Amino acid sequence: MRRIYFNEVVTRDGFQNEPAFVPTDTKIALIDGLSRCGYAKIEVTSFTSPRAIPMLRDAGEVMGRIQRVPGVETTVLVPNVRGAERALESHADEFNLVMSTSETHNLANLRMPRENSFAGLRDVIALARGRAAINVSLSTCFGCPMEGDVAEDEVIRWADRFAELGVRGLTICDTTGMAHPAQVARMSRHLLARFPGLQITLHFHNTRGMGLANMLVAVQEGVDRFDGSLGGLGGCPYAPGATGNICSEDAIHMLQAMGFDTGIDLDLLLPLARALPEIVGHDVPGQVAKSGRISDVHPAPDGVAELRHQFAQQP
Ligand code: COA
Ligand code: ZN
Repeated sequence: MRRIYFNEVVTRDGFQNEPAFVPTDTKIALIDGLSRCGYAKIEVTSFTSPRAIPMLRDAGEVMGRIQRVPGVETTVLVPNVRGAERALESHADEFNLVMSTSETHNLANLRMPRENSFAGLRDVIALARGRAAINVSLSTCFGCPMEGDVAEDEVIRWADRFAELGVRGLTICDTTGMAHPAQVARMSRHLLARFPGLQITLHFHNTRGMGLANMLVAVQEGVDRFDGSLGGLGGCPYAPGATGNICSEDAIHMLQAMGFDTGIDLDLLLPLARALPEIVGHDVPGQVAKSGRISDVHPAPDGVAELRHQFAQQP
């Protein structure tokens, strides 16, 4: 059975876009629950400016108090050297560095040109060497809500620059759900051929309903790592029209039905998804938590047994 690795991002990408602060204890309980489900990785929080992302201002405390489960990596989003210093204190297994392939989105999200981001992240990589694994998430790789198309060659150019710095992995992000399956298939082939030694992860948002289709074509091309968010929460606060990530439990349910090994126990995960609306105070997009698994069969309505019997009697 082919293994597909999931990184759960609900407490980072999911929560960063929520208006009401989720209490620290609630975050910790959720992360501890997720840690028992079989994820390869959990993106716990981000060490960003607390003024930019107030929801995650408790990153240090959260990292200090969660249970570390062997086999489940913790990763934290790091935008700059200040963030890396805080992340080092937290003993995260991985730093997830972030910058955008679109100049406009980088200015909106990180308040600096891409070259400045790159220089800062190069310093972060030097600082973290030997102390944490490095993944780089490149935002808006399938299109920018302000610039429109982002050329595949531009994505590869930034990916090359980070690959040269010796990173362990690259996450290619569809920050605002602009990717379509034909584009994802092309990009997946290109990435796998060019970076055979790197962990390649794809990060999709379901903004236009193409999230699971995009994941599936990437799986078919050989990509085996995906970000997903419990309940389908998520979105970048600095991207107009951003909505949720692909929903973890829906994606996992689909892949398991198709015979893939995700390592994840849906019996443990679905109750966490069902508790999520209570935590964020509103309904969430995920569907399997509402409808149940395809293997959940329901009793037939009254009268069906009688009808079956009647028809069985007819010649
Ligand atoms: N952690 C904590 N504080 C930070 C910080 C970090 N990683 N980075 C900057 N700060 C603080 C500085 O210490 C400074 O504080 P002060 O005003 O009390 O002195 C203040 O923030 C401004 O610092 P500056 O270097 O000018 O940063 P900035 O305001 O230009 O912010 C970012 C740059 C990238 C750090 C900030 O915009 C950010 O965190 N953005 C979040 C991006 C994000 O997570 N987007 C969603 C996910 S893709
Ligand atoms: Zn995202």
